[in-house]
Amino acid sequence: MPYTNAVVHEIQRFLALAPIGVPRAVARDVHLRQYVIPKGTTIFLSLKSVLYDSREFPNPEQFNPGHFLDENGAFKKSNFFMPFSAGKRNCMGEGLARMELFLILTAILQNFTLKSVVQPKDIDIIPATASVGNHPKPSELRVLCR
Ligand code: HEM
Repeated sequence: MPYTNAVVHEIQRFLALAPIGVPRAVARDVHLRQYVIPKGTTIFLSLKSVLYDSREFPNPEQFNPGHFLDENGAFKKSNFFMPFSAGKRNCMGEGLARMELFLILTAILQNFTLKSVVQPKDIDIIPATASVGNHPKPSELRVLCR
């Protein structure tokens, strides 16, 4: 199901649930380009800057599952897809979360028809920010059994 997979990826890219990850501290003095980050400094990873990098995702401010599809409609992996962060301390629940997102979305679409109460183009899909997390703005939806 390449298109559904691309939609789930695009939802996570567009939302950027944890745009600056969680706070970490460097365990030793780190030299990064012309900077020195002293041991113990709190750092945040700018995950959103990767998820919205226009070199990888043209028009990143637009919701477009095509960001994860190739010209034949096959699913296209991206090294810039890192809503769960990267490295040794990345999200421990990534496998569980990805499986649940796919299963819940497909189960809803198999069993219900979803209808917007306003014109879909009038729904504000720009995520809202609370504290250090992003979340979708509330909107009304009509859910009909298939
Ligand atoms: C869409 C859902 C989720 C997203 C986007 C997400 C994202 C993240 C991010 C960005 C981090 C910080 C990683 C870092 O600092 O490099 C993190 C850490 C973590 N997440 Fe998640 N997470 C999700 C769901 C879950 C679930 C379902 C679980 C558990 C069942 C979970 C457990 C954890 C744990 C334990 C850590 C800390 C890992 C460590 O410190 O080594 N997450 N997550």
